Amino acid sequence: MKRKKILQLLLAENPIKDVLVKGWVRTRRDSKDFSFLEVNDGSCLKNLQVVVDSSLDNYSEITKLSTGSAIVINGDLIPSKGAGQKWEVLARNIEIVGLAPESYPLQKKRHTDEFLRTIAHLRPRTNKYGAVFRIRSELSYAIHKFFRDRGFKYIHSPIITGSDCEGAGELFKVTTLSLENPPKKEGKVDYSQDFFGSLANLTVSGQLAAEMLALALGDVYTFGPTFRAENSHTSRHVAEFWMVEPEMAFCDLEGNMDLAEDIIKHLTAYIVDECTDDLELFAKFVDKDLMSTLDLVASSVPVRLPYTNALEILKKSGKKFEYDIDFGKDLQTEHERYLVEHHFKKPVIIFNYPKNIKPFYMRLNDDDRTVAAMDVLMPKVGEIIGGSQREERLGVLEKRIHDLSLPKEEYWWYLDSRRYGSVEHSGFGLGFERLLMLMTGINNIRDVIPFPRTPNNIEY
Ligand code: 4AD
Ligand code: MG
Repeated sequence: MKRKKILQLLLAENPIKDVLVKGWVRTRRDSKDFSFLEVNDGSCLKNLQVVVDSSLDNYSEITKLSTGSAIVINGDLIPSKGAGQKWEVLARNIEIVGLAPESYPLQKKRHTDEFLRTIAHLRPRTNKYGAVFRIRSELSYAIHKFFRDRGFKYIHSPIITGSDCEGAGELFKVTTLSLENPPKKEGKVDYSQDFFGSLANLTVSGQLAAEMLALALGDVYTFGPTFRAENSHTSRHVAEFWMVEPEMAFCDLEGNMDLAEDIIKHLTAYIVDECTDDLELFAKFVDKDLMSTLDLVASSVPVRLPYTNALEILKKSGKKFEYDIDFGKDLQTEHERYLVEHHFKKPVIIFNYPKNIKPFYMRLNDDDRTVAAMDVLMPKVGEIIGGSQREERLGVLEKRIHDLSLPKEEYWWYLDSRRYGSVEHSGFGLGFERLLMLMTGINNIRDVIPFPRTPNNIEY
């Protein structure tokens, strides 16, 4: 007999004779002639109530079943006599496949997030984290569907790269050289003897590869892991995170902002429609304002604001910020939050940033001091998207590379794309974990990825 998922059973229209269910016991309640088991199999938030008659052969073992134990149930799906659920399973036979003794850490109903982070291997078995990782999966699907419906091609950019896309130097090296005794040349490590014959690192962004493919396939996107060795201990940074990076040929900054708006709205509406039960849990236990935030994100048109105008607003605000703000300085979280949560009270896209705080590949504006960059800022989460129109003019790009003292020879292939059939093009990176924070109201990024990687923490 084929196993049925609990999600399927709870949606049944009619009673079903003979069902096979497999899952883990969440709670057990005994009455005089029956035991009631709440069973969860991860297919949905809701548990299945299983009624066990005392006439079952192994009933005495059932009445000792503890939270977390794995069982296989044979029985009939019947209308429930109790309140709170439409269906229950009346068990004919229960096989105990994996006991969880008293030492099982998830006995209590509610634990702190800090505690659960110390048992990241077990936390998916709680209601909250089960919901997080189901939404993570749904959201991934919705992203692929969003792009496919719009004719974008899914491409795979390399994880190991020879270039630093963002130029921020936050790279994890990839090497097979001996760390104790590496080969040296003129006092420096000789990477020409390394596996790839030169220095290699984990990618910080799939963008440069995506650009090459966009200039062939038109509209493309990547969706994969990226790595940053930035030593930031904030609730919005992890060293390994997933990024969604669309790249569009024949597209300027306007078109780029249009896509950014469209994808955020579309994904928010999708999750609100498809993940009702899981969202309800977050709205109840994590963030009371979640549904109104999601409504706002799905329905409002973000403000599009040049960086210089953002500066003016911040200066006129009369608010004392911890960090000063002047042309040429990057906006800090406190500035971003002020604009989004206090001043405009809705999502904001800031564009045309000073060139000195942005990477080499962004298109230089006519004023010669700003570039066609954009950041999308959301309530609570802050920056969720960073993107730009790319510099497509060979001469201007070469000059930028020179001015920033970047090794021009290493970018020969990138410059080739500007040498042959260069066109205006744009793209952005959407931080997948930041997006999940927005969707769930969870305020620590460590709690939306199964096994978070942060400084001094790589348990698994
Ligand atoms: O703004 P970033 O650095 O942009 C890029 O990497 C571009 N190359 C993307 C592109 O144009 N194709 O990063 C993009 C987004 C940020 O807005 C943020 O949401 C997320 O990636 N992000 C992080 N998320 C979690 N932890 C970190 N350490 C992150 N760094 C960036
Ligand atoms: Mg950024």
